[in-house]
Amino acid sequence: MCGIVAYIGSKQCQQLLLEGLKRLEYRGYDSAGMAVLDGSKITLARAVGKVSNLEDKLEETGGMRGTLGLAHTRWATHGGVTEANAHPHTDDRVGIALIHNGIIENYASLKTYLEEKGHVFKSQTDTEVLAMLIGELYEGDLEKAVQAALREVTGAYSIAVICEKEPDTLVVARKGSPLMLGIGNGEFIVGSDPSAIIAHTTQAVPLEDYTVAKVTRSGFRTSDIHDVPVTPKVMQLEMDLEQIELGSFGHFMQKEIFEQPKALRNTMRGRLDTREGRVVLGGVSKFDKELTKTRRVTLTGQGTALHAAMIGEYLLEDLAKIPAVAEYASEFRYRNPIVEDNTVVIAVSQSGETADTLAALREAKERGALAMGVVNVVGSSIARETDAGVYLRVGPEIGVASTKAFVGQVAVLSMLTIYLGRKRYLSADQCADLMREMELIPEKMERILESDARIRKVTERYIDRENWLFLGRGYNYPTALEGALKLKEISYIHAEGMPAAEMKHGPIALINDGMPAVFIANRGRQYDKVMSNIQEVKARGGRIIAVATEGDEQIKRLADEVLFVPDIAEPLSPMLTVVPLQLMAYHAAVLRGHDVDKPRNLAKSVTVE
Ligand code: G6P
Repeated sequence: MCGIVAYIGSKQCQQLLLEGLKRLEYRGYDSAGMAVLDGSKITLARAVGKVSNLEDKLEETGGMRGTLGLAHTRWATHGGVTEANAHPHTDDRVGIALIHNGIIENYASLKTYLEEKGHVFKSQTDTEVLAMLIGELYEGDLEKAVQAALREVTGAYSIAVICEKEPDTLVVARKGSPLMLGIGNGEFIVGSDPSAIIAHTTQAVPLEDYTVAKVTRSGFRTSDIHDVPVTPKVMQLEMDLEQIELGSFGHFMQKEIFEQPKALRNTMRGRLDTREGRVVLGGVSKFDKELTKTRRVTLTGQGTALHAAMIGEYLLEDLAKIPAVAEYASEFRYRNPIVEDNTVVIAVSQSGETADTLAALREAKERGALAMGVVNVVGSSIARETDAGVYLRVGPEIGVASTKAFVGQVAVLSMLTIYLGRKRYLSADQCADLMREMELIPEKMERILESDARIRKVTERYIDRENWLFLGRGYNYPTALEGALKLKEISYIHAEGMPAAEMKHGPIALINDGMPAVFIANRGRQYDKVMSNIQEVKARGGRIIAVATEGDEQIKRLADEVLFVPDIAEPLSPMLTVVPLQLMAYHAAVLRGHDVDKPRNLAKSVTVE
């Protein structure tokens, strides 16, 4: 979603801002812009499309000079994808330029008020309203004008503002949309995401909601919107540059798929005590007393995170014998849910910033649930607002289509299941057996990755087909959903995932000659049932691509293509069966010539509802 980068210091900042924007490209956007203040004049440039279009424009116009500036990638919400709607936006009174992530919900009434005061708007955005409002309230102090304006707005924002009358001031603020202030050597770099900052410094202050920071070349002060000082908490960014660079891979998605064995080893490191048959989770153990009494678990998330949550539901009921349900955060939040005593709500999220998931978490807390997070980004909003949590530790995920975060989420939910199960029905031996199986997963994954070239060939054979089915049962029903989501996200092929049995209740009508149906048919309790479903599709002319367990001879006779995965205990199998599906989606997108890491219309982190 929208990205922010801003700079104040002694360096000419145009290039630095462009590089920051490029590092934010992965979040998803449709236009970009920049404003730089040189002495007393702001120069502005905006362009529809890629950051490279903005770069070309800057080159054509001779570029910008100045050591204070802001830059933005916009993902349209209010108003179409046009240059006039791209950020930065300016006021028409004092020379203010502003960039904004989030949505100003009461922009319409504010706009009417400002129009009555004679302001003339040039865009259809909610952001321009905020720029005008700050201009309207400006009385010689930018920080105060921003505070006053933010007291009038409802909604979510992270903003960066400059003013021609104050060439040594950058004001930034946050509510509901992430923003951090990087502290460099005699300079400050602001970013909506650490990847925009990390090339310059590892010291940063993640701003809390309702915090305003006034940043000058010599220092900064933080306050709330009523000007009450706030003590800043400086943190060390753990990311390093190499983690967010491509290396020898063609795309971040590919890099992240291949990084999965290593990522999983990090997720599990120090957490599996096989000798004692117990899982060690530091961020959860202080709630042991409450967790022993858990009567119900609701797992919530969106997109890929929801698919991981669904696997968590199966794990918790099957192994830990705790009633569990996985639900879209967006639905949970608004359906007036019943939260009984001793309910644990687990928010699953890579970014920790997904607006729907955050809102569901707050709703659950409000209703008395113990809030737990299964999150990748350290210090993110969800991580901060949960009572307890387990980080994924899979490293930054840049590819918009989530891969390593998914397996990290499933691994963490497996560990949580063993943790909670040990308190109830699982013996130390059963736990140890499961943990030993988990330890073998990275190595087994490496074996699947070795078959990448074959997976590409299989994908190539079906690349012209516009409709695909993904079918699985039990633990691998969510895997089927995930396989379909991956394919549609980046290759724009229509794909549907569903429980294999559901297919005959309608979707079977879609099957025609040559339609690819991907079955997750590894060995498990419902293997024979899946075989019957395969027969049903085959009888109607569908082509079968099966993900099956190594050594399965029977399936070779039935399926048109077989992608083998090593044998593994069924509850843990999605961490392996998903890998061929990720690779198929990746190759399909590349073969169709799409920009894998920047799929159309998608955003990596969706911070609006
Ligand atoms: C967006 C992304 C998906 C992701 C979902 C949830 O829609 O495009 O890939 O699964 O958000 O994101 P989260 O950061 O909460 O896991």
